[in-house]
Amino acid sequence: MSSPSFPNLRITQHPLIQHKVTHLREERTDCKTFRELVRELTGLLLYEATADLPVAPYDIVTPMEPMTGHRLAPKVAFVPILRAGVGMVDAAIDAVPGAIVYHLGMYRDESTHQPVHYYNKLPATVNVDIVFVLDPMLATGGSASDAIAALKDWGAPEIRFVSIISAPEGVTRLLEQHPDVPVYTAALDRQLNDHAFILPGLGDAGDRLYGTQ
Ligand code: PRP
Repeated sequence: MSSPSFPNLRITQHPLIQHKVTHLREERTDCKTFRELVRELTGLLLYEATADLPVAPYDIVTPMEPMTGHRLAPKVAFVPILRAGVGMVDAAIDAVPGAIVYHLGMYRDESTHQPVHYYNKLPATVNVDIVFVLDPMLATGGSASDAIAALKDWGAPEIRFVSIISAPEGVTRLLEQHPDVPVYTAALDRQLNDHAFILPGLGDAGDRLYGTQ
């Protein structure tokens, strides 16, 4: 589903996604279940986010006869934003086993809410056709916007952003700063609070994934 206010946003409202996101949000959902749900939701979101990728003809032989099938044409990279984006990687490389994973390390300063870069594992030269940035939370959009800017500086030909929960403030920021980057998400929430946490949201995804709260 697209949103009239946000032409860059693709909200996937499949019943399985709505069910899993609700369970993910619940305060009483434990760490192990939270990790499993992030993984399952990432797989479902990537199904949507990759739906229009081109395929190329590919000749094979079945046990019965030769045939021409298809295989994914573009070279894909997944770029998780540390830490929480790492929880999405296993599902991503299950979906596209030939993909490369490059990590970007960023945390949000608790007082300024500005992203702080601390790790960048992009190679010197661009060797992929499309990059999917992975982060379960799009709040102010600062981390996402900086990650996308870094990927554009690197030379990424095409970029898509995959989050599980998004705030209108973050989607607006990406629309203003990176209108060419579509955002695939499971839920568009109401707003940010005074500490830039998403409401109703799910709390801190990194802490819930790794039991650090
Ligand atoms: C969270 C989240 C995003 C960012 C979103 O990470 O995973 O990366 O904040 O906020 P923004 O849209 O306002 O930039 P956090 O800084 O908590 O780091 P962590 O993943 O290491 O917990």
